[in-house]
Amino acid sequence: MRSLPLSRSSREAVEVASRAAEEAGSLLLKHMYGQLKLGQKEGRANLVTDVDLAAEKAVMGILQAEYPDFGIVSEESPAVARDSAFTWVVDPLDGTNNYVHGIPFICVSIGLALGPEPVMGVVYDPVRKELFTARKGHGASLNGLPISVARRQKMAEAFLGVDLGYDADKGRAMLDFVKVPWPDIGGLRLIGSAALGLTYVACGRLDAYIHPLLYPWDVAAAIVLVQESGGKITDWQGRPATIETRVVAAANEALHGQFLKLIQGQEPLRF
Ligand code: IPD
Ligand code: CA
Ligand code: CA
Repeated sequence: MRSLPLSRSSREAVEVASRAAEEAGSLLLKHMYGQLKLGQKEGRANLVTDVDLAAEKAVMGILQAEYPDFGIVSEESPAVARDSAFTWVVDPLDGTNNYVHGIPFICVSIGLALGPEPVMGVVYDPVRKELFTARKGHGASLNGLPISVARRQKMAEAFLGVDLGYDADKGRAMLDFVKVPWPDIGGLRLIGSAALGLTYVACGRLDAYIHPLLYPWDVAAAIVLVQESGGKITDWQGRPATIETRVVAAANEALHGQFLKLIQGQEPLRF
């Protein structure tokens, strides 16, 4: 992987993204238990708050000032197109439903993609002050220390994370799906933040994470984190994930194959 362009103030992209994520993260923390202004987006229980928007503004301000030539795709704003092949892909608050309910399980996700391929990712959990970073070809870390996926290889030991997304039918299909390995897996968690769930695969807290409908901002950073920590992240046909991948499965090499087989054997999941 060639090195990534430096920013206007000569900083590395990962440094700029980390600063932006931490800035947004402090905003999220500050307003977490305050009065939120809620808006409803398309889909089932798909919310946006005034804090999503404020966090997005903070992130975009930093990224645009440091990399005026890069495009930006951010969840709550129209995409900004530029001539550069690099695009920032931003979720200023992943886990809005958790946030609205006061469940402290949220993150800021900032990926950098070259075409559709993510090459750098930062996921920041402001509650635990955990900063996950990864750069293609350079490994992944948590607060500066290297991370790797879990070594567990047996389905019976696997801790599986899932989410249902905002499409009612796809969510129902996921619920049907988890009955297949259950109870012959180690545990099941419904995370409420896809970016954090995938990142937990990267650092070995979860053994696998599966989702039926994600968007570029949910996956861009986490794709690099999973890949650089030794894991595999693909669509449900086994093709490597890009920012365009909507159905996602992530795990270590051994479990990835086993979960993919289960998914492919399930009629309701073949959408
Ligand atoms: C959502 C969360 C959720 C997942 C949804 C995502 P948001 O992101 O990651 O866990 O199931 O599909 O859209 O709306 O909180 O940014
Ligand atoms: Ca999201
Ligand atoms: Ca979001």
